[in-house]
Amino acid sequence: MVGKEFLLNSKQMAFFVAKGYLRFDELIPEEINKAVMRDIDAGTVRSQPAGTPLSQCYPAPSAVGEMIRLPQVQGIIHSLVGPDPLFDHQAVHVRQPNEGAAQHLHGDSTIDVRMHFDVQLMYFPHDVTPEMGGTLIVPGSHFRRINEMDIARYQNIVGQIQMVCKAGTLMVVHHGIWHCGRQNKSDQMRYMFKVRLNPTVRQRLLWNTDDLTDETKKQQTIFGGAKKSDDVQSILGQQEPWFEWGDGRLEIINRIKLWRFITGDDNFDVHYWLSRLENMPENLLEAVE
Ligand SMILES: [Fe+2]
Repeated sequence: MVGKEFLLNSKQMAFFVAKGYLRFDELIPEEINKAVMRDIDAGTVRSQPAGTPLSQCYPAPSAVGEMIRLPQVQGIIHSLVGPDPLFDHQAVHVRQPNEGAAQHLHGDSTIDVRMHFDVQLMYFPHDVTPEMGGTLIVPGSHFRRINEMDIARYQNIVGQIQMVCKAGTLMVVHHGIWHCGRQNKSDQMRYMFKVRLNPTVRQRLLWNTDDLTDETKKQQTIFGGAKKSDDVQSILGQQEPWFEWGDGRLEIINRIKLWRFITGDDNFDVHYWLSRLENMPENLLEAVE
């Protein structure tokens, strides 16, 4: 069982719901980063059959196993997909030095409209400089469900994030996030280890919910009346630069639906966006004499 101190908090979960990712810079210790690089170079990072419990994957000695079994990583996994998720697939992504092109922007797998979600851990075992490209993601794109390379024609989207980071950085993304490997213009090989995980339990209140008080759950109905800039409602209402007309109501409604799903609070709302759509009175007005 993961210690409560290693679980995510409600604001981090709200950030994940809103943006479709979380990043943890320099989370993994340097000795594990170096050991993972050695295993990658030796070709010994063994995959597993899809559907294998994660707890049975990467048995010792395995540097990737050490990374995954860190309590901080276990806490992230538990908070998002619960205890002992299933291994889906892994990939050691390699970008050659001085390569001629970037990977096309895409979503992994096919159109997947589940409210339940898989996560992908993206682990950067060495420093990634701007010249090395890095993995690119489009924050908030995870509700725009697409089929693989449907979006490949798009080159750059305002608001995109390029993962320039120090060794040991871990990013966790929702299965729907738009992403790609950027062009590596350096003279060094670039690596990123990815593993996708499937939940085996209903994804509800799996994180440290101590901060999920009545106050943070309260619906904020006054437009522009955010009390704090970092409460759950404010995080779920944050704009992305690519939102239509700088508003993104549809995206915020999708965030509300996912927040309701992971909290079980069917009355939760942000700025009344979803409550309005659910208002379908059936009570008939009695005839007036
Ligand atoms: Fe991908």
